[in-house]
Amino acid sequence: MANVVVVGSQWGDEGKGKIVDWLSERADVVVRFQGGHNAGHTLVVDGKTYKLSLLPSGVVRPGKLSIIGSGVVFDPHAFVAELERIRALGVEIGPDRLKIAENTPLILSLHRELDGFREDAASNSGTKIGTTRRGIGPAYEDKGGRRAIRIMDLAEPDTLPMKVDRLLTHHNALRRGLGHPEVAHETIMAELTSVAGEILPYIDRVWKVLDDKRRAGERILFEGAQGTLLDVDHGTYPFVTSSNTVAGQAAAGSGVGPGAIGYVLGITKAYTTRVGEGPFPSEQDNEVGQFLGERGHEFGTVTGRKRRCGWFDAVLVRQAVAVNGIDGIALTKLDVLDGLDEIKVCTGYRLDGEVIDYLPASQGAQARVEPIYEVLEGWQGTTKGARSWNDLPAQAVKYVRHIEELIGAPVALLSTSPERDDTILVTDPFQD
Ligand code: IMP
Repeated sequence: MANVVVVGSQWGDEGKGKIVDWLSERADVVVRFQGGHNAGHTLVVDGKTYKLSLLPSGVVRPGKLSIIGSGVVFDPHAFVAELERIRALGVEIGPDRLKIAENTPLILSLHRELDGFREDAASNSGTKIGTTRRGIGPAYEDKGGRRAIRIMDLAEPDTLPMKVDRLLTHHNALRRGLGHPEVAHETIMAELTSVAGEILPYIDRVWKVLDDKRRAGERILFEGAQGTLLDVDHGTYPFVTSSNTVAGQAAAGSGVGPGAIGYVLGITKAYTTRVGEGPFPSEQDNEVGQFLGERGHEFGTVTGRKRRCGWFDAVLVRQAVAVNGIDGIALTKLDVLDGLDEIKVCTGYRLDGEVIDYLPASQGAQARVEPIYEVLEGWQGTTKGARSWNDLPAQAVKYVRHIEELIGAPVALLSTSPERDDTILVTDPFQD
């Protein structure tokens, strides 16, 4: 039996929420291992819509254990607000069902502010990243810089003031340099003590919990956020998030060995979208992009920003298959392409007069690549709500088969609407 890692194989927003929910019904434990409340997962269960950012998707299903691993950056205010919002929808969540790694670094208000200060300053020079302004990058910097406040520090009042001092020495120097007022020690102490009581009941030795679950043969689902091209190593740097979003991070970010991962499922949209700045070779800044955006409801779950849209880029997904070790993909939103006369697929790039079949690493080269397209015939029937291959127009099946060939990975699941039952199962990742 395989434990499963779900990752996005493009720039995020591939429709992970529905697939993770579908898989979480088959899992015993659901784990978040990177990112924070910059993620936005929409789940539709029994006609009810849940929008999750920080909480693992397992929380909406009774009887599942949800875990937040130390690879996540944890905003206590966002956590409390999201708990309240989900509880108001009738979901019961307590420390028996949700555990947070005690060594998880916190996102504080000063991280959120710094994210905003930098983005505002960069807007003037045309170098902004287009972050979600949630403080994700600054919090990861402090983790790497060994000055983060971690959740369990809240339970150690003797040493907490010294840790806050160390953090503020760094942040106040930065704030002065950027022309913003310093933050007082008392302000951060008050912020931390105001949330401690709500959070500490949830902390645990998550590595141990997972080890016990694994030994007991329970099924673990690792829920990735964002997408491979937003990975800090493998993405379109510097237009990326500050965590590793690839499958390998599931092990480090939750505290299991790589051998615990059995199957990697790459969630893949039938076309391409991205939010924020950065290169996007197959972008259609025209009526095609507008059509895809409107038909696909391409607005960010977290920030409400309009997503940029374009044709399917097989070069990028083929690369994602390699860097994640993707065993199979879940193809989503095929129905958005219904009714198009022709559909383009990017199969390579032209770079400075040469044809290449990969995304180059340099920022300059990424901005210069020009897509090479194959033009496929579209289909006139609908794929929406199909529950078997026989329900799909022949041309749609051809499109899917061609994508499989181009990216070098099979379709394990085909999602044909936001409803969880509108899914065609080819391979059950947990049974592989
Ligand atoms: P940050 O993660 O807020 O630092 O933002 C860095 C980049 O990642 C920006 O381009 C964001 O739009 C993008 N990003 C962060 N989270 C998500 C997500 O969940 N879906 C899509 N894009 C995201």
